[in-house]
Amino acid sequence: MFKKTDKTFAFETEILNQGAYIDLLASNPETAPIYLTTAFNVEDLDDLQARYAVKGFCYNRNRNPNRTALIELITHLEKGENSIICSSGMAAISTAMLSLVQQGDHILSDQTLYGETIDFFSKVLSGYGVDVTYVNFTDQAAIEAAIKPNTKVFYTETVSNPMISVVDLDAVAQIAHNHQALFVVDNTFMTAYGVRPLEHGADLVVNSLTKFANGHSDAVAGSVTGSDALIQKAYNLQVLLGSTADAFTSWLVQRGMRTMSLRVQKQMDNAAALAKALDECPYVLKVFHPSLPGHPQHDLAKRLFKKGFGGMISIELPNDKDKINAFMRKLNLAHYAMTLGGYRTSLAHPVSSSHYDIPEEERLKMGITYGLMRISVGIEDTDDLVSDFMEALEVFA
Ligand SMILES: Cc1ncc(COP(=O)(O)O)c(C=O)c1O
Repeated sequence: MFKKTDKTFAFETEILNQGAYIDLLASNPETAPIYLTTAFNVEDLDDLQARYAVKGFCYNRNRNPNRTALIELITHLEKGENSIICSSGMAAISTAMLSLVQQGDHILSDQTLYGETIDFFSKVLSGYGVDVTYVNFTDQAAIEAAIKPNTKVFYTETVSNPMISVVDLDAVAQIAHNHQALFVVDNTFMTAYGVRPLEHGADLVVNSLTKFANGHSDAVAGSVTGSDALIQKAYNLQVLLGSTADAFTSWLVQRGMRTMSLRVQKQMDNAAALAKALDECPYVLKVFHPSLPGHPQHDLAKRLFKKGFGGMISIELPNDKDKINAFMRKLNLAHYAMTLGGYRTSLAHPVSSSHYDIPEEERLKMGITYGLMRISVGIEDTDDLVSDFMEALEVFA
């Protein structure tokens, strides 16, 4: 019995200590409890050393059972050796990248990425003497041409935000490794259910678990997965940066991920049906979804993605703010939200949100026009979802 004594103390002392430890067998509950504790008490210095030896639980910023449980889950799904769980997708990206580069290094990055990833590279890392070049990662000759002797990391998203282009992970990994560089892939849009970048040559895979992985729009978290050696470096830095996810968030994300395969499959199927209908709609100027035979990387996507083409679509609407507003108001199901991957269909306007800080000239180079709307497809009934979009698009008639 841990710290049990026959001694009695004053009310003020007993109120602090009674019921502090549960000594009856409480292991293997059907659902993991939430370990809301900053620290774990140890009996003596031998006990402390024994915990260090097995990387046990002492202090929450270093390790927490809920984070460890989520690490086990994401590591298994992404087919890595180990992971860290972070307080957001951005915490995962920043912790991973800071663990890989230092002053004088060069990052070669895809040019269409989540806007804040670009901001982190261009506004934060460049301030610490890290040089970044952005090229179109669907163009392998452009990648080769941009490599420098100090290129340490290649960085891309499996499916880019918001242009929904698909990168040939195997080919880019090969180029990176030919030049002794590491390859980091953000798999947020596809999830480990859709594709596992580590199986296609990536060295680290990062995920914003906030999105499709958790899927319930109620928790913000991220992960980095890879080899033991690379994750150990990222973990050592994470402990110092304090970019860890808390216990409750880790628990919520693990709960959400239990149904990830069911949700993401439905989201992919709905997205393919909606993309087809949007492509046939006369009011939509362009539809970006890899399921469409006209998508420039349709064949590549078929090879990489065995389960479906992802739940994200972008569409280009006429550059008419009043009509875009009327369209948004007329939709009953899809609603505007500055997130994605939830079980309900949502819309975003990259020019006003994720790419707000990117200069117009850069944005247009990526293809992000004012009329571009990004759709994160949910798990609604397919016919309900498609007909709601088709009715709302009539405002452009
Ligand atoms: C592709 C991608 N990566 C990373 C992030 C950042 O994730 P978080 O908001 O969890 O920090 C996002 C956010 O939308 C994203 O779309």
